[in-house]
This record gives sequence, structure tokens and C-alpha cells, in this order.
Amino acid sequence: MARDGAVYACTSCGATQTRWAGQCPACGAWNTLVEELVSRPPGALKPTKATRSRHLAFEGLDETTPAPPRIVTGVGEWDRVCGGGVVPGSAILVGGDPGVGKSTLLLQVAAEAARRGQRCAYISGEEAIEQVRGRAQRMGLADAPVKLAAETSLRAILDGLKAEPFDLVVIDSIQTMWSDNHEAAPGSVTQVRAAAGELVRLAKKRGLSVILVGHVTKEGAIAGPRVVEHMVDAVFAFEGERGYPFRILRGAKNRFGATDEIGVFEMGDAGLSEVKNPSALFLNTSGERAAGAAVFAGIEGSRPVLVEIQALVAPSAYGTPRRAVVGWDSGRLAMILAVLEARCGLGFGDKDVYLNVAGGLRISEPAADLAAAAALASSAFDVALPQDCVVFGEISLSGEVRPVSRMDGRLKEAAKLGFRRALGPADLENPALPYTGASRLGDAIQRIHDANWDERR
Ligand code: TYD
Ligand code: MG
Repeated sequence: MARDGAVYACTSCGATQTRWAGQCPACGAWNTLVEELVSRPPGALKPTKATRSRHLAFEGLDETTPAPPRIVTGVGEWDRVCGGGVVPGSAILVGGDPGVGKSTLLLQVAAEAARRGQRCAYISGEEAIEQVRGRAQRMGLADAPVKLAAETSLRAILDGLKAEPFDLVVIDSIQTMWSDNHEAAPGSVTQVRAAAGELVRLAKKRGLSVILVGHVTKEGAIAGPRVVEHMVDAVFAFEGERGYPFRILRGAKNRFGATDEIGVFEMGDAGLSEVKNPSALFLNTSGERAAGAAVFAGIEGSRPVLVEIQALVAPSAYGTPRRAVVGWDSGRLAMILAVLEARCGLGFGDKDVYLNVAGGLRISEPAADLAAAAALASSAFDVALPQDCVVFGEISLSGEVRPVSRMDGRLKEAAKLGFRRALGPADLENPALPYTGASRLGDAIQRIHDANWDERR
């Protein structure tokens, strides 16, 4: 029997149970239930002034609500992912691996916003003031009127934020904050949830925007309970492949803008710089395109992005051939290989297969299937695709090449970057580029094999 007032919370999904169990009944994770003390103020269950006699006022869908005002921070890629700037009174959670550049990004956001007259605070629970200041100096932001503090006590932070008016506050990170109302250790579910809850409440009450930094677990989820993700208005993931300078801010949830929008940055000696034209960054435009490479005309968020997909098909030295992917889903590679085998007669059973998305980008669009298949076929045949060709199209299990969204936008971006032909699904009216349509994967593979690029316009 649980002690009075004790509940067990899952560190993975945040669900609470009245008794401990080895496996969370809600999400099925093992060894994730931890005891949490809940203390209710005496008499909290009795109706109080605030809870008694409140009537629900219904409104119609057609009534007009003015668009929310926005704090334009001046970091364009950040503002884009927010949906045009930070909404006053909103809470944003930014997650990412350690060292990816979260502190750098948010210091930059706070400093740029402060330069534009917003009252900004940056509260670090991980670094000393000197460290933050030193970084700001290296980044050329030392003159920005940001108020710095190094603090982990939630009470001190809340008091500080109530004492002075602010427009934008960065809390770096939510896992280091602790509330003396709870006995649990900093970083525990209870503390993270309590700290996030208090800060979000303060944000709503005072019309102050709060940006919370969150660490990410090995599985890629934001550490601490999922409930924090539900509490905030927006969740952004800050990603980057080790060894590459590119960083991508990706919207995972956004109550005030489109999700799946991305912001692209490059990490340099003076912090992060915005990348206005991502295609130029992910594309290897110098030199000949080798066999096994195909340029995919993709869409990331609202923008077309061109990126090179590289494949290597090589004889396998072992009984079990290797399949390795970087920036691509291994399940999707298996599917494409299966379709190439079953529908086009290309065998990979005794071959190692490697697939790599250049530049450290991660592609999840099914529209990239044909480009991956083209790269694989090009490597298998040792026939290079034309230097100036882009590829897109979704592949079905039956071996069809399916149309994808915004084909026009993809072709226009390719044309802008100097590409002169495209391979994609059949039936495209007035393409912006000389266009080779293939309704079956077999046709596309045959063309690659024969280096036959007779276009149809
Ligand atoms: P940081 O913002 O501290 O990462 P996080 O808060 O996500 O843990 O960034 C750390 C990395 O960024 C570190 O490896 C050094 C690098 N960096 C630069 O390359 N240039 C810079 O100007 C700055 C400030 C950091
Ligand atoms: Mg940090």
C-alpha cells in the first residue's frame, strides 16, 4: 500500500500510479516509476471562492480574434520556426543533445531581442555568469542589454521575475531548476514538472515569454516527463550531426505556427549564423557527381531544400551483408531495396549497402524514395547520374513512382540553383525544367542504366 499522499510517476510518460510496479502500465517502459510526494494544501478539496459559481461563457467559431502580437527577435531563422516571432505570454521548450548549441542559440536570441528593445533575461543553472559573459563577448553580443543570472532555485527565479518587468526570459536548463516545495532531487520528474508548471503559469499571468532549455535522453525524447511537452505552447528540437557545422531548429509542436518548419544555422567561431539558402549548403556543387550520388529536391518546412543522397553498393565480405544509413531511416532503406529486388530485378543479397545524406541533414520525406533508389542503382551499375539532374518521387511497394507534394516548388528551386533536368513521377504539366517522367520504378532504373535522358516536356 502506498503511503498517504504518495504516488508513483513514470519518468518516461509522466503517468501516475498509486502503487509501484516494475513496468509502467501506461507506456510499458521498465523501471521508470519513481515515488512522488503530492502535498495538497489543507481544505483544497472544498470549493473555494475561485472554484465556486463560475459560469462557462461559450463563444462561436466565427467571432474574430486578432492575430497574436509577436516579439520579433531579429534572429530570422528562429522567428521563422516560431511562426513569425515569439508570442508574448507563451512558453517554448527547446530540446537538443548536450553540446549541440542550445545555450549559444538562446543567448543569441535573447541578445538580439534585447538590442531591439525587448526586456530580456537569461538565467543559467548550468554555467557561471563569467562563462555566459565570456561566450557573449566571443559572439560579439557583449553590448546587448540582457540581464544575466546564475540561479537554480525556482523560488529565487520567480521572485526575481516578479520584481522586474521582462518580455522574454530564457531558462537554461529546466532540468537544473529545483523548487523547495518538493523534496525530490533536481532533474527528477517531480522537480522538472513543478518548475515547468510554475514558469508556464508565470508566463501566462504576466504576458512574459519563457523559453525553457531541455536536455534530451539517448532515445531523443526530452528528458523528464512528457507532460512538460504538453504544458508548453511550442516544442522545438535543435539538431546537428557531429562533425558538421550545420544546426537545424525543427518545430515539433507549435500552437502559434506551422510545425515541421525548420531554421538552419551554421556554428562558427562567433556563434551561430543564419543560413538563408540551405540548398547551397547541403549540396556539393563543386566537381563531377560520382556514381552513387543523386540530388534530391526536397521540401523542409515551407522551403525547398536540395540535398545530395549518396549510396555505395559493394560486394559483401561476410555472410550477413551490412546495411548502414546516415540521415535516413533504415526501415525505409530496407523497403526500397526490397522493391528494387522484387520489381526491378536488382539483387542486393550479397552486397553491403550504405546510404548517406550529405551535409548532416536528416530526411524523413517519402518523396526522397526515388532519389535514394536512383543513388543505389547508380552505384550498383557504376553509372553516374547527370551532373545537372534532380530527382524526387515516392515509391510504392508495387513499384510505382507516386506524385509528391509541391513538385512545382521543387523544380523551381532546382532551376534557380542551376539544375537543368529532373527525374520524377510521370504526368507533370509545364515543368520548370526539362523533365523525365517515370510512372514505374523499373522505367527510372532502366534510364539510369542506359544513361538515357531523353526528356519529355
Ligand atoms: P552550447 O551552446 O554550450 O551547447 P548546449 O547548450 O546545447 O549544450 O554549445 C557548445 C558547443 O558549441 C561547443 O562544443 C562549442 C561550440 N561553439 C562554437 O563552435 N562556437 C561558438 O561561438 C560557441 C559559443 C560555441
Ligand atoms: Mg548549455
